[in-house]
Amino acid sequence: MSLNSKHLLGLDGMKREDIQLILDTAVSFREVLDRPIKKVPPLQGKTIANMFFENSTRTRLSFELAERRLSADVLGFQSSGSSVSKGETLKDTARNIEAMKVDMVVMRHPAAGAPHYLAQVVDANVINAGDGGHEHPTQALLDMYTIRERLGRLEGLHVCIVGDISHSRVALSNIYGLTTMGAKVSVCGPATMIPREIEKLGVDVYHHLDDILPLVDVLNVLRIQLERDAGRLFPSLREYHNYYGITRQRLDRAGRVITILHPGPINRDVEIAADVADGEHSVILQQVLNGVAIRMSVLYLLSIRN
Ligand code: CP
Repeated sequence: MSLNSKHLLGLDGMKREDIQLILDTAVSFREVLDRPIKKVPPLQGKTIANMFFENSTRTRLSFELAERRLSADVLGFQSSGSSVSKGETLKDTARNIEAMKVDMVVMRHPAAGAPHYLAQVVDANVINAGDGGHEHPTQALLDMYTIRERLGRLEGLHVCIVGDISHSRVALSNIYGLTTMGAKVSVCGPATMIPREIEKLGVDVYHHLDDILPLVDVLNVLRIQLERDAGRLFPSLREYHNYYGITRQRLDRAGRVITILHPGPINRDVEIAADVADGEHSVILQQVLNGVAIRMSVLYLLSIRN
């Protein structure tokens, strides 16, 4: 069993059988993470470069840990302190790294499409670790894995993504992945944060949380991206919290158990109340743990495709 594609650039157009294979393979790797010795040999002799042109905590550490757990040799690259600051192009940087016989490249970049471009100019497998406001496929895969682990299935569940859908690569990858796997997806947020014509992706749009909460099984709560000027899309953080913050009172009013996801980093008491983030229905830290298993699964499946 192997993936249909040499690269993981996004979930747009990815076949259901490929998503299923990644999720199922991750179950075995998740078990490895509970062992006293958390290391297995499948990527021994392979070299992986992690090229991060944008800040990251979870994704960068998670990929690096996944690579080391699979016994790969790991190269770390961050744009600050590299020759990018001397004007070197992305193509030249990548080809120089590849000349060192790198087998796979994991890339995060602020420009949408940068990993797709890279995949055209290098022979290595390319994995998108988040490209601008476009896609973040491994985040959506770990979100789906965590939902399936908690609720036993994806098919037929109703997942609502709350917040700044317009700027969110997490939202887009989740919409593609969840709809492919047979879940119903809604989005909720102020009109300034919902892209026009998003219904064409097969989602329902809500502007009032209290209308959607009684209908859903899962909430995926997005971070307000203050570094991307999202603060200009509503009057104040206090107002955003009043209308769209996920609070215990609001969840109690909905009258059903709702599983809470958040990709991190969290703005506590802005998009999510601190007690909800730390509460019994939050799976935020399980997402982080499962992310290592999902990335092990993706790296392994791409490596056996070569
Ligand atoms: N969820 C996520 O992508 O977090 P980082 O930006 O810390 O990698």
